[in-house]
Amino acid sequence: MVELIEAAKAARTNAYAPYSVYRVGAAVLGSDGRVYTGCNVENVSYGLTVCAERTAVVKMVSEGCREVRAVAVATKDGGTPCGQCLQTLLEFALDPADLKVCCVSEDGNEKAFTLAELLPHGFRSELKNE
Ligand code: THU
Repeated sequence: MVELIEAAKAARTNAYAPYSVYRVGAAVLGSDGRVYTGCNVENVSYGLTVCAERTAVVKMVSEGCREVRAVAVATKDGGTPCGQCLQTLLEFALDPADLKVCCVSEDGNEKAFTLAELLPHGFRSELKNE
């Protein structure tokens, strides 16, 4: 988890957040052993903003990996991922009760949760066809 936290902090330096000035970095460990990072990317049309966690997951999937094994998120205040990001993580989590999400703040405070704790009743279905 230490490596993942450092990767999230480093990714945060790339955050494009000129509107909120709330910089977020994320790192996800894929089942392929690789670390995928992301930052928030805002837009003047605010609703187009992409969160750091979803940036990282999209990078992972687009590189051919479909399972998240651990997540680290770095913010100013240790904020937890938003609902959209939690649902996106759930899509690629084998067991949400076993997926650790570590949230770190600028002052070094670390809070660890499982995805199941953060999103206890996320939507799941048998709709996958591939
Ligand atoms: N943000 C994230 O990157 N991840 C989250 O889970 C919550 C919010 C970003 C979006 C926006 O750029 C800024 O934080 C303030 O909401």
